[in-house]
Amino acid sequence: MSFTVAIDGPAASGKGTISRAIAQHFGFAHLDTGLLYRAVGKKALALGDGPEIAVQIARELTAEDLNSDDLRTAEVAVAASKVASIPEVRSALVDFQKTFAKQQGGAILDGRDIGTVICPNAEVKLFVIANAKVRARRRYKELSEKGEKITELQVLNDIQARDARDAGRDTAPMVAAPDALVLDTSEMSIAQAIAAALAAIEGKLSLTANGLD
Ligand code: DC
Repeated sequence: MSFTVAIDGPAASGKGTISRAIAQHFGFAHLDTGLLYRAVGKKALALGDGPEIAVQIARELTAEDLNSDDLRTAEVAVAASKVASIPEVRSALVDFQKTFAKQQGGAILDGRDIGTVICPNAEVKLFVIANAKVRARRRYKELSEKGEKITELQVLNDIQARDARDAGRDTAPMVAAPDALVLDTSEMSIAQAIAAALAAIEGKLSLTANGLD
């Protein structure tokens, strides 16, 4: 069975936590597509920031590059958002994501353009949002617990700049697919957000299993 869940939304909206919980619950394979752009961004920081270099890096990306420890820093997040606005970088990463999405047993992908570009026919689409201050607080907590020296205000500024770049680019901008369920997690606990997502998927899975969809 191939069953695809597409989860999009801005940084620190809760989509990663929700995706991991769904993957575990249903036994789906999970791809955090932000890691692809983070891996390209991190290498581009080391090698130089011309678009041609970033495109070359994206074309040569390997699974091992996604396992690098330090992809989740604030600096790499900004670099990821910048390389993600280069159309040829995005197109170099499309096939890998589409193949991942179609694997047997079910797949969940989270990112910015999954429901719109990578998996427009996904069985379930969620667009997870939360207000920017709440997101900045969550991300600040994560980063400072890992020892990163950064203020909450810097995190807020980075998140807002990233939102504007990710939503404003011409190719595959961050936007909710018209058929996505929008989930605002600003006032939700992690457990509530996960429960809402699970309910949406369970409803769709039972329709599919009964041949009603
Ligand atoms: O999800 P994340 O915060 O780790 O993503 C890092 C950056 O990568 C994000 O600011 C924009 C880019 N990205 C993208 O353009 N498309 C995706 N599907 C996933 C991430």
